Amino acid sequence: MSRSAGTEAERDLGCNPTPNATMGEIIAARFSRRDLMKGAMAVAAISATVGTQALQRAQAQTRAPGATRFTFGEIEAGVDETHHVAQGYDADVLLRWGDPLFPDAPAFDPQNQSAEAQARQFGYNSDFVGFIPIGNAADHGLLVVNHEYTNEELMFPGVGIQDSKDANFSKMTPALVAIEMAAHGGAVVEVRRGADGKWSHVMGSRYTRRITADTPMEITGAAAGSDRIKTAADPTGRRVLGTVNNCAGGVTPWGTWLSAEENFNGYFWGKLPEGHREAGNYKRYGIGSPAYAWGKFHDRFDMSKEPNEANRFGWVVEIDPFDPNSVPRKRTALGRTKHEGAAGIVNRDGRYVIYLGDDERFDYVYKFVTAGRVDPANRAANLNLLDEGTLYVARYDANGTGEWLPLVHGQGPLNAANGFASQADVLIETRRAGDVLGATKMDRPEDVEADPRTHRVYVMLTNNTRRGDEQVDPANPRARNAFGHIIEMKPEGDDHASTRFTWEVLVKCGDPSVAAVGATFSSETTKNGWFGMPDNCAIDSQGRLWIATDGNNAKATGRADGLWALETEGEGRGTSRHFFRVPAGAELCGPCFTPDDASLFAAIQHPGESDDDKVPVSFENPATRWPDFKPGIPPRPSVVVITRKGGGRIG
Ligand code: FEO
Ligand code: CA
Ligand code: CA
Ligand code: CA
Repeated sequence: MSRSAGTEAERDLGCNPTPNATMGEIIAARFSRRDLMKGAMAVAAISATVGTQALQRAQAQTRAPGATRFTFGEIEAGVDETHHVAQGYDADVLLRWGDPLFPDAPAFDPQNQSAEAQARQFGYNSDFVGFIPIGNAADHGLLVVNHEYTNEELMFPGVGIQDSKDANFSKMTPALVAIEMAAHGGAVVEVRRGADGKWSHVMGSRYTRRITADTPMEITGAAAGSDRIKTAADPTGRRVLGTVNNCAGGVTPWGTWLSAEENFNGYFWGKLPEGHREAGNYKRYGIGSPAYAWGKFHDRFDMSKEPNEANRFGWVVEIDPFDPNSVPRKRTALGRTKHEGAAGIVNRDGRYVIYLGDDERFDYVYKFVTAGRVDPANRAANLNLLDEGTLYVARYDANGTGEWLPLVHGQGPLNAANGFASQADVLIETRRAGDVLGATKMDRPEDVEADPRTHRVYVMLTNNTRRGDEQVDPANPRARNAFGHIIEMKPEGDDHASTRFTWEVLVKCGDPSVAAVGATFSSETTKNGWFGMPDNCAIDSQGRLWIATDGNNAKATGRADGLWALETEGEGRGTSRHFFRVPAGAELCGPCFTPDDASLFAAIQHPGESDDDKVPVSFENPATRWPDFKPGIPPRPSVVVITRKGGGRIG
C-alpha cells in the first residue's frame, strides 16, 4: 500500500459514531441537475420544491446547451511517466524536493541526505501553494508552500515501505526520522517572473524560510493554556514544536499564510495510559494507528509518555511570511479537526470569514467568522484577528437551505453535562461538538472556496465509498460515492456572517457514460472532460472553477489525476475540460493563480507512488523518475508554474 493510500483512505478512519446527521431516512426531496435539464414540464413540476436560484438555472437549462467560456483545447485523459498541459501552454518545474533554498544549502544528493541539509532545502510532498504579491505585482511575490507528508519508501535508498503492522518501522532510524521531520512543514520562497516570461526562485532573498516539524510555535486562542494542552516540556500549554501534515491552507488579505494540519493522527505512537481522559477524544480523531516511526525516538510523539501532545495538533497555523523570525501561531479559535484548508473572504461588513473542511468520511464543513474587522490600512492590527470570533458547523437541510450552528460553549448542548466545561473543550473536541449539534455528515470535505465576485461558496467532497444506501441524504446523494461531488452554497443576502444559506449540488463527479455512476456533468463534457475525486480548487477572476483531483487510480480509471476547468455560469454551467495531468502515481494540489490569471502555480505531490497495492514501489523502483528522469534519482515532488505561450490570461 502506498503512503498516499495510507493517508487518504486508511487513515480516514471513519470514526464519527453519532447517528444524528446523515438525515438517514429523509428521502431526497430535491431534484438533481440532470432532472432539471429534462425540460419545462419538469421545471413546472418541481417549482414547489426547489428555491428560486435553482429554478432560474433550470429554466436556463431548457435552452440549448451552450459552450463554455474556455478557449483552450483539452488534453487527453490518460497516464504516463510525465505531465501534460493543454496546447499553447508551458508547465515548467519551479521548485523540486531537495532544491537548495539558501545560498549555503547543499545540492540535492539522495544518497547522502541529512536533516541539516533538508532543513535548508525545499521539502517533500507540497500541497497548498499560495502567492502573496510584493507590492501589487503579479510577476513578483512570495510563494508559500506546505510540505504535507513524506514517502520514506521513495525518499530513502533500501528502506522500502515501512508499516507499523508488519515491520514496526524496522528500517527507520533516528537519522531518517530527523530527515522526515525536516521535510515536513512548509517553505516561504520569493519568486519573480523574468523578461523571458519564466519564473524563478530568488536565491538569497531575505524572506526565505523553512518551517519544519521542530519549528517553535505559539498556541493562541481559547484553547491555549488549557490543562489538556499542557505537556512536560510545555507547562504553559502555549508553546509547541512544529507542525505536521499541512495539507491545504489559505492566504489572508493582510498577507499571512494559513497552513492547515490534516492527518495529524498518524504521527502518534503507543497507547494512552489506562483510563486516560483523552481516550474518547483521540478515538474520534483516529489517533492510535501510527503511520510514522517518530514516536519510537521522540517521547512527545509517544502517547504513553506524553499523553497530551496530540491535542496540540489538528489546528490551523498562521505564519507571517514577511518576517522570517516571526513565531507561527496555532489559531485554536478555528477548531481542531483534520483541516483540509482555510480559504477565506472579507465579508461586506469587514469581518473575515474562513471556510474549513474536515477531510474524513462523515465529517463536517465549518466556517469561522472573526469578531473584529479587517483594517486594510493597518496590517499590524490584523495580525491577531483570528483569535476572536465564532466557529460554526454546517447543517444542510433537504429543502435546499441550511444553517450554520455556532460552536460556542454554553449555547445549546455545548455544556458541562455533555463534557464541555469551557470553550477550550469545545475547540479541542470540535468534532464531538459538531456531533451534538446535529451537523450534516459529509463525503469527505476538502477545499471550500468562496468567489468574492458572486459570493458563491464551493465545497469539494472528494468521495465516501462507505456511505450506505440508508445513509444517503440530499447533500450526499450517492451511496458508495466513489467519485465525489461539488456543492455550491450561497450565504443569505450575500452575507458570509449570516447563519442561513441556500445550497445545491453543482456536479456529481465520475464518468457520465456509465449510467450506474450517476455523474451529472453537462452533455457538452467530453470523455476527457469528466473527473472524479475533487480535492483542491481555485476560482479564476471570471468565477470559473479549476479543480485538482486526488485519487483517480490509473489502474481503475485509466487516467491520472490533474486539473480540470469547470464552467459555473450560463448555458455551459456544469461543463468540464481537462487542462493538465500529472505523472504516474501523483495527485495535483494547490492550484493558485496570480492576480492577473496569467500564471498558475500547482504542486505535483507523491509522483512515483504505486496505483496498485500488488506492485509496491521503492526508491530503487519508482513508478516514474519525474521530473529529472536520471538513473538513481528518485521522483521529486515539485511545484510547477503554468503560463500561456506568449503571455496572457489562462483558460
Ligand atoms: Fe491532504 Fe484531504 O488531503
Ligand atoms: Ca495530499
Ligand atoms: Ca487534499
Ligand atoms: Ca485528497
